[in-house]
Formats: sequence, structure tokens, C-alpha cells
Amino acid sequence: MGNVKTIGVLTSGGDAPGMNAAIRAVVRTALAAGCNVKGIMRGYLGLLEEDIIDMDARSVSDIIQRGGTILYTARCLDMLKSEVQDKAADICRKHGIDGLVVIGGDGSFKGAQQLARRGINTVGLPGTIDLDIACTDYTIGFDTAINTAMETIDKVRDTSTSHERCSVIEVMGRKAGYIALWCGIANGAEEILIAERYDYDEQRIINNIINKRKTGKKHYIIVNAEGVGDSNGMAKRIEAATGMETRATIIGHAQRGGSPTTKDRVYASMMGAKAVDLLVAGASNRVVGYRDGKFVDYDIEEGLAMTKDVDQYMFELSIRLSK
Ligand code: F6P
Repeated sequence: MGNVKTIGVLTSGGDAPGMNAAIRAVVRTALAAGCNVKGIMRGYLGLLEEDIIDMDARSVSDIIQRGGTILYTARCLDMLKSEVQDKAADICRKHGIDGLVVIGGDGSFKGAQQLARRGINTVGLPGTIDLDIACTDYTIGFDTAINTAMETIDKVRDTSTSHERCSVIEVMGRKAGYIALWCGIANGAEEILIAERYDYDEQRIINNIINKRKTGKKHYIIVNAEGVGDSNGMAKRIEAATGMETRATIIGHAQRGGSPTTKDRVYASMMGAKAVDLLVAGASNRVVGYRDGKFVDYDIEEGLAMTKDVDQYMFELSIRLSK
């Protein structure tokens, strides 16, 4: 058994629905294990500014259903510097924080890895709508984000059908196409463009639109991943080449907000509790994941070294279904 006495928790990088559920689980599991809990505001930025609050069970009341993060978040590039990592570890020690749960993406885990090397026990939780963390099949926020995007695309589809238009709808995901692929299938899109597979052959899309219109298609939905981008330009070129009125919709940050789905609330709670269990058991430098139906954990080094790709069968299926 370890002897962690005070567990800190922070959220870092882009926020994601379900982060509050994870914070709540960390706080209440840590208190149940007899630990003190400190909330660190605005990720590593707040840690460096010593913006640290005491948390009790009531600090996390009424938050499980709320999107965003009550601890606020930031991207802190300074945390990549060795001297800044030293300072962050010293601040943890000054505040008695001997265990730290970092909820964020790969960049945030690198900070946790450096703190672990400096004697602070750390565990990372995968929090991002992008699903682009290799060591896990699930990331906190992805499920809510795809449901939000799916509902929006359904709405765009209604108006697209009424006007017999083509719509290019851009979803988030940074370089990763998971949101686009899931929504493309869920929304029955005619085209799904993801950077991992797109050959940038716009003429093929244009030919498809012309041919499918001849078969009676009233609208044409293109779900375009942020990693491909250029949705406005694409819409203009498609309209010019096909004569079909075309509009671009960039869904944007709406995908990052909103009340988390059941899955995000429950999985984030499980992961938050697991992070504390690991710290209490004396583990450090770990990242929690979800693999083959189980919550698992890896060394941060091991997790960061993993790679993943979109599911090839799912991608091929998306093409077969879009006829
Ligand atoms: O990582 C989450 C994410 O929403 C990405 O999908 C997107 O590329 C990025 O963050 C947007 O970042 P910002 O909120 O800083 O504009």
C-alpha cells in the first residue's frame, strides 16, 4: 500500500463533457479512502500560480450533469520546460500534494510523467472529445460530442433536403477522424472525409454528386473532419462544379459543451475512482484506459508510445452504406 495523504486533481487541455463526473469521482473516492483533496484551477497554469483550493464532498455536489469543468482548464506550453516542471513539483510538495490526478490528453500526460519523475505520484485520465489517445478505446467526452454533432447534422440534413442542397458539415477532432467517422455513419452521410484516409480527390466527389442526383438523391451530406478542413472552400468548388447549391456548416465548439451522456458520466466516474485506487495502492506514472470492455492502466511511457488508427472495417462499412 502507498501512503498518499493529499490528492490533487486538475483538468488540462480542451475541456470535455464528463470531466466534472471524473472530478466528482476523484474527490469522493479520495475522501472515502481517508485522503485530503485539493482542486487545482486552470490545469498546470493554475498549479504554477498556486491557484489551489480545498475540496470536500459538497464541492462536487450538483456537477455530474454539467458540461465543461468546474476546475477550469488551460493549455500550458511552459510545462514542457524542465525548470517549470521542477517548480510545479516543488509547489505540489509545498501544498502537501503527494498524489495528482491529471485529466486531459497526451500533452497533459507528459506533464504528469515529468512530475512523477520528480517524486509526485501521478495518474492520467483520458479527457478529450477527439478519442485520439492511443492507449484507450474510450476518452471522456467523445460520446457526448458525437451525440451533439449527430443531432446537429440531423438538423442540417432537414434543411438540406428541403432545399435539395449539398451540405459540407465540419466536425472537430483535431487531426483525428473518429468524430467524423462515427457521425458519418450515424447520420447516413454520402461522404465521410477523414485525414487518415482521404485522397483529396475532389473530382470523385463531384462526379458522385452528379451521378447520384441522376438517381433521385435530393440532398448530399458530406461530413468533413477538422483534419481535412477547408469546408467553405470545398462548398464553393462543389457548387461551381455541380450546379447544386452547397453550404458549409462548421459545428465548432458546441461539440465540446453540453450535459454529458450516461456513458460519459458513468465511464468518467469509473475512471476517476480507478485513478484514486491506483494512487492509494502506491502506483505512480500511470494512465487509465478502457480496453476490450475493461478499465485498465499503463505506464505513461508505454501509453504515450502506443499508436492507433481508425477501424478499417468501420471505414469500409461507411463507404458501403453511403450508396
Ligand atoms: O482537442 C479538442 C478540440 O476541440 C479539438 O477537436 C480542436 O481541434 C481543438 O480542441 C480546438 O481547440 P480550441 O478550443 O483551443 O480552439
